[in-house]
Amino acid sequence: MGIVLKGGTIVSSKDSYIADIRIENGIIKAMGENLEVDGDEVINVSGRYILPGGIDAHTHFDLDVGVTRTADNFETGTKAALVGGTTTIIDYANHIKGQRFLDDLRYYSTLTDGRCYCDYSYHLSITEWNQDFSKEMGEMVLRGIPSFKMYMAYKDTLQVEDYEIEEALRKAKELGIILSFHCEDGDEIVKNVSNLLLEGKTEPKFHEISRGDEVELAAVKRILDISEKVDYPVYIVHLSTKKALDEIIRRRKSGTKVIIETCPQYLLLNKEAYKGKVDDDFNGAKYVMSPPLRSKEDNNALWKGIANRDIQILATDHCSFNYKNQKEIGLKDFSKIPNGAPGVEHRMILLYSFGVREERISINKLVEITSENASKIFGLYPNKGVIAEGSDGDILVLNPSEEEVITWQNQTQNVDYTPYEGYKVKGKIERVFLRGKEVVKDGKLLSDKAFGQFVSRKRLRDEVQKYGEI
Ligand code: URP
Ligand code: ZN
Ligand code: ZN
Repeated sequence: MGIVLKGGTIVSSKDSYIADIRIENGIIKAMGENLEVDGDEVINVSGRYILPGGIDAHTHFDLDVGVTRTADNFETGTKAALVGGTTTIIDYANHIKGQRFLDDLRYYSTLTDGRCYCDYSYHLSITEWNQDFSKEMGEMVLRGIPSFKMYMAYKDTLQVEDYEIEEALRKAKELGIILSFHCEDGDEIVKNVSNLLLEGKTEPKFHEISRGDEVELAAVKRILDISEKVDYPVYIVHLSTKKALDEIIRRRKSGTKVIIETCPQYLLLNKEAYKGKVDDDFNGAKYVMSPPLRSKEDNNALWKGIANRDIQILATDHCSFNYKNQKEIGLKDFSKIPNGAPGVEHRMILLYSFGVREERISINKLVEITSENASKIFGLYPNKGVIAEGSDGDILVLNPSEEEVITWQNQTQNVDYTPYEGYKVKGKIERVFLRGKEVVKDGKLLSDKAFGQFVSRKRLRDEVQKYGEI
């Protein structure tokens, strides 16, 4: 017995067309007309867009940041992902210093296995480098984890040195896999924070001042230098500034290859948020994330970068901490506010409402940057990120005629605020299917079982050979 979705407008990165879809045993079996077989459930989706389930390639669930743990774990985070139309997440698993990568993986499996409501994978964040890791990287690839990350910020905890980056990137090149980078100059930030605190500047707004756009630019320049020296592409996570994007565009003209990700917060929010509220001057702590929010000019440059194909991926960097008790750890010192904000639930609808409906991008571009590119770059294609015969039945049904207001009370994310409080969005994520099973209906989670599976991913090199460069 299968499911037939009838009369919807199917969207890919290239085109949009009306057709029916038949799903059986979790897989899209047929597309076209008159597909029903006896016993099938037929769902009328006319007037709706039918998109591939979203892939959020950048989340932090159940993350230990020393003083506290993220408000969302893999159970609540993946429930919120599904409600928002995201059917696969790739989380950044942190390497524990002194431990083997396989031990990191074993530990993360205890956090994820049997707890995820959507499909999942990890990238491993390498927080130190030694020659043994060369071999261990290869072992991770064999286990279906062909992507790693290094931080150029968070001195004394996550930050690595340039020589470590170069060695790791050479190994990534040998293996044909992705190494991504958090690009902010950590040493510069330490100096700025210390000067600000000495001057008694302790409020949340000084977070942004301690890591201005030059701090991102300096790190981006360094990573591009290393990438050119090693002659291997890098992936830059959560790009936030016009200056850095302009530098990347300039360097690409002379042959440098780089993949760029940005996030909804860098398109829709700006640094005005740090001013706080009349009745609560600590409110800016809700927006303390790294990199920080920027100017409207930066927002516009990033929108343009998406439309022009300068930016390949929209992920969320979901990293939620409650305002009460968690963000408040930094009440007297902005540098102690846990960094990060929620977003996994609202990525798809925010992009549809403020991108597609406000005519900044096409709906095809939305599919390209929220699922198809992530699928190709991170080795999930063609099972995920596309609606095609033989692909997983990961499908999001979006009703363009409905409207909603985002509030923290009506969200599924397990956190006491949303940065998008009161945002009126056009469109509604009406139904979601994960491998053919309906998991969201009328915007509500149906399933009380963690149906998500670990997905083994392929290497970038193999994907590029098959599908060409993104
Ligand atoms: O503030 C942020 N982004 N926290 C999560 C960790 C990171 O830098 O990606
Ligand atoms: Zn980061
Ligand atoms: Zn992150």
